[in-house]
Amino acid sequence: MSSKRIPRDGDDLDPGRLPRHVAMIMDGNGRWAKKRLLNRIQGHEKGADTVRAMVEACREIGIPFLTLYAFSTENWQRPKREVDALMALLIKFLENERDELQKNGIRLAAIGEVERLPGKVRRALDEVMAATAANDKLRLILALSYGGRAEIVRMARFLAEAAATGKVQAEEIDHDWVGRHLYTSDVPDPDILIRTSGEMRVSNFLLWQIAYAEFHFTPTLWPDFGKEEFYRILGDYQQRERRFGKVDTGADTA
Ligand code: IPE
Ligand code: IPE
Ligand code: MG
Repeated sequence: MSSKRIPRDGDDLDPGRLPRHVAMIMDGNGRWAKKRLLNRIQGHEKGADTVRAMVEACREIGIPFLTLYAFSTENWQRPKREVDALMALLIKFLENERDELQKNGIRLAAIGEVERLPGKVRRALDEVMAATAANDKLRLILALSYGGRAEIVRMARFLAEAAATGKVQAEEIDHDWVGRHLYTSDVPDPDILIRTSGEMRVSNFLLWQIAYAEFHFTPTLWPDFGKEEFYRILGDYQQRERRFGKVDTGADTA
């Protein structure tokens, strides 16, 4: 039996059973602010500290891929003031973190309809992505203007065009082909999906990629989420048995 000790820091985790890819739905900034009679923007500002902490944690314990849901295709429907503030915050984050990412060997990437982002955000994003492109310790993937359905529609359009021009035959279409035509083509599927704030839904995040991810929902609001709880969740992940539809590994195979 594996031990049930609760990890208090990354050193308590089993390095052989760490997820390769952690995906997070960063939710609850607005409620965090409301509870403190602050405005929602201040909640997002505080949420940026948690982003920093999660990047640091993954880098420290050696998780190679971290995807953060920062802005969904549906989030464009929020009041303009909030959307503008989120975009400004993103620019600030990119400017502030650039050197730290570089110093720590972290590569920044983005998934989603980034062409919908304001030019200023796109430029800041492109700049940091280009500067960190050769880093390979951790890939920090920001889902920006991202929607899982839009991603699948994009793949389907590509497929229709490739088929119409004879570049692809029906028999060639399999899981791998589909996977190669999503934003995440060079990223392993998430092993674990964590959502903060108590909502138990996926909200259009990585629909194809989470087919066999382990889910973890916590009531903690994103700005209150921190390394200690993250390590506890990873400890729980390490106790789970992932079967991928097969019989459990301890079963008699004779
Ligand atoms: C998550 O916090 C951040 C984004 C979606 C950009 P919310 O802004 O959704 O916070 P709540 O869910 O209203 O508390
Ligand atoms: C999901 O949170 C999107 C992000 C975290 C960026 P939302 O707050 O937008 O999701 P719903 O509206 O609660 O489903
Ligand atoms: Mg929310």
